[in-house]
Amino acid sequence: MTTHTLAIGLDGIAVAETDLSLVDGQNGLLVYRGHWARDLAIHHTFEEVAHLLWYGHLPSAQELAELQDKMRANRELPAHVKGILDLIPADVDMMSVLRTGVSALAAPDHAWPPSLDQVISLTAKMPTIVAHRFARLAGREPLNPRQDLNHTANYLYMLKGQEPSPAHVRALDAYLILTQEHGMNASTFSGRVVASTQSDLISSITAAIGALKGPLHGGAPSEVTEMIEAIGTKENAEPWLRAKLENGERLMGFGHRVYKTIDPRATALRVVASQLSADDPWFDLATHVEQVGLKLLDEYKPGRKLHTNVEFFAAAVMRAVGLDDFLFTPTFAVSRVVGWSAHVLEQASNNRIIRPQSNYIGSMPE
Ligand code: CMC
Repeated sequence: MTTHTLAIGLDGIAVAETDLSLVDGQNGLLVYRGHWARDLAIHHTFEEVAHLLWYGHLPSAQELAELQDKMRANRELPAHVKGILDLIPADVDMMSVLRTGVSALAAPDHAWPPSLDQVISLTAKMPTIVAHRFARLAGREPLNPRQDLNHTANYLYMLKGQEPSPAHVRALDAYLILTQEHGMNASTFSGRVVASTQSDLISSITAAIGALKGPLHGGAPSEVTEMIEAIGTKENAEPWLRAKLENGERLMGFGHRVYKTIDPRATALRVVASQLSADDPWFDLATHVEQVGLKLLDEYKPGRKLHTNVEFFAAAVMRAVGLDDFLFTPTFAVSRVVGWSAHVLEQASNNRIIRPQSNYIGSMPE
């Protein structure tokens, strides 16, 4: 019987060449198309960085205006999508609602190959799906998108019902930029696998949302806030975290498949969060939990090189701008759709179906 090289979890296996991003886990570096992600988060906006990932370069003033116009024109949801969202029972989680809403955006003109117009239309609508559901859960009418606001400000406006402060928009923009793209992570890979069969963009993104939802990937940040709240006081941090590790459980917001040093996104988001949360006892407790967590991971998992990951401070930033826990992972999706769709376009431009092997270890017929 033929056996194939086994790579459980595909650890260390490259499945594509990409010019979208470099994730250097040994040195803690993140590059989007030749630019440090950290610098993009400080000096640019969501739309500018999306342009970089989709078109290959940062936009000129005219290119930016064109992209912004297209995104604004595409924010509204078709009536049937709103109707479908409203049929979903209130206790269904927000990521499942987002996945269903995206799936409902399927249209006859979405056939293979994917186009930039499809990508822009979908990216523009993702915040509206989340905000529509959020408004319904809060018992109010969903707000129409505001044409005078940029992507991030409009998202916050639709969620909160009032124009957000520039500081909140800047902080959330930094988070959304730092999470737009991240190499061949589980959700991006899922999207590329679907694209490699020449299926449509909506199917790829629906698959990616399903993969992002899990707590080992994008589902972690709300579990970080749950952990901080359960710990409650600085004195309780060590016994609480120790009990988890004694029990063989994982500490949320720590560890990463690729980063064996500090996640550069965590470093950047720590600064953003601390600017907004200087006097917040929650943030003070969170940074204490981080220190104790790192010390205990060193004790219980020596040599595994476990550091704080992006989700730890993503939770702090989203909390600081006033987002509820259950919006954290959907907000991650609102950002990551940019990278997913850039990968789908890249896969389509040089496609070979992704079809790995498995080794049969069962019995043979008599
Ligand atoms: N807490 C305790 N132990 C851990 C943790 C953690 N957070 N992460 C890894 N380990 C241990 C793990 O138990 C294993 O120990 P041993 O060698 O004794 O079996 C060792 O470290 C290596 O772990 P692994 O499971 O081989 O690592 P992985 O690359 O398969 O998993 C991970 C990476 C992110 C799934 C994992 O670190 C984890 O579960 N972290 C907690 C969840 C989390 O914060 N997820 C967000 C990830 S970052 C954003 C994203 O990907 O979207």
